[in-house]
Amino acid sequence: MENKVSISTLPYEFETLPFKFKILKENGVEFAHCDIMDGKFVENKTYMPNMLREIKKEMPLPLDVHLMVNNPLDYIEILKDVAYYYTIHCECFKTENELIEAVKIVKNNGFKAGIAVDLYTDENVILKVLQEVDLVLIMTVKAGAGGQKFNETALKKVEYLNLIRAKNKLNFQIEVDGGINDTNVSECVKAGANIVVSGSFVAKSNDLNKTIKSLKVSK
Ligand code: DX5
Ligand code: ZN
Repeated sequence: MENKVSISTLPYEFETLPFKFKILKENGVEFAHCDIMDGKFVENKTYMPNMLREIKKEMPLPLDVHLMVNNPLDYIEILKDVAYYYTIHCECFKTENELIEAVKIVKNNGFKAGIAVDLYTDENVILKVLQEVDLVLIMTVKAGAGGQKFNETALKKVEYLNLIRAKNKLNFQIEVDGGINDTNVSECVKAGANIVVSGSFVAKSNDLNKTIKSLKVSK
């Protein structure tokens, strides 16, 4: 069984996304990883979810939406029938109950619910919500920018969550995000990742087919 590849929209001009992702799909990519940044939760600011709604019809891949925003539930209506994965950061919620309530709202609105854990956040804060979520996104860089160096300390979290998933027979996907390339993807998949995100490694490739293949590891 091979892992899946989700390509970040961050390196590309917004207007070029449908065209770019058509080519990426032809080269074996499974998801479009839509990094949304509000300039508050993280310093940088990107296009906002309403723009995704506009181009959804031309996007050839399911949208894996990564909301790096202070109020992640504000986009439920806008992203209805647009986002496949609707991923919110656990750091936006003060208590486990708030987090569980938020995930339930995402699920009750028909999305696959994702929960993201930033690089310096302890993964124990999401244990109570694991039976609710469809995806856990483990940041392997500090959320907020592309082109950063992979931080392998995050793999301990992937291993731990992989163990809990197996022990409790849960079926959430584990996604790793940040600095992923052909030199670290195998250790990510070995630790338990099912989906790998790539931004800069793929964006600077001059042989897309070979580069995407180098991000697929059979386990
Ligand atoms: C960072 C984003 C990542 C990033 C990935 O905040 O969530 O998705 O864009 O880009 P690379 O692969 O360049 O780290
Ligand atoms: Zn991301």
